[in-house]
Amino acid sequence: MSFAVAIDGPAAAGKGTISKAVAAHFAFAHLDTGLLYRAVGRRTLNGTDPVAAAQDLTAEELAQGDLRTAEIAQAASKVAVIPEVRAALVDFQRAFARRAGGAVLDGRDIGTVICPKADVKLFVTASAEVRAERRFLELNAKGADVTRAQVLSDVQERDARDAERSTAPMKPAEDAILLDTSDLSIDEALAQAIEVIESML
Ligand code: C5P
Repeated sequence: MSFAVAIDGPAAAGKGTISKAVAAHFAFAHLDTGLLYRAVGRRTLNGTDPVAAAQDLTAEELAQGDLRTAEIAQAASKVAVIPEVRAALVDFQRAFARRAGGAVLDGRDIGTVICPKADVKLFVTASAEVRAERRFLELNAKGADVTRAQVLSDVQERDARDAERSTAPMKPAEDAILLDTSDLSIDEALAQAIEVIESML
């Protein structure tokens, strides 16, 4: 039996951490759909056409190297506005959502476009300042040479592009449950997410 959990929200709201932990808790498979756009974005940095990159994306490319850099995040949000890029990635995501044993997908348009009939939809948010601080600490721990101000403006620029694009803009599905993690610890946010999912099982 399949059971799909859609977790959407802006950058660094905590959806990645929550999704991974929720998947582990329920023994569901997890797909971080941002990695698909990041892998396409990375290929465009070498001059590859984004639509061609999306159409022949391989599992090896998703697993290769560090896709979580600021440069690749910006490249990802630029290719993510292209309808043909998004279209090329739909089937893979939907097949993942239908797998037996349950699946958690996190991204921007999972509850609205990829899995409009998901069994549970969460929209995870936090203030831009809180999100930028989290992302700053994360990048800093990896030794990246960034300032808080830079990270905040990157996050705001990416949010604006994600929310304002005409194809599959980032927004909560009408039936999504909002989870604001601004004042929550990871454990508190996770407990709330698990409670919501448990009530729908
Ligand atoms: O979630 P993450 O920060 O890895 O996503 C990188 C970028 O990929 C986002 O800023 C967004 O533009 C794009 N994306 C998307 N739809 C998704 C997941 C990610 O447009 N489902």
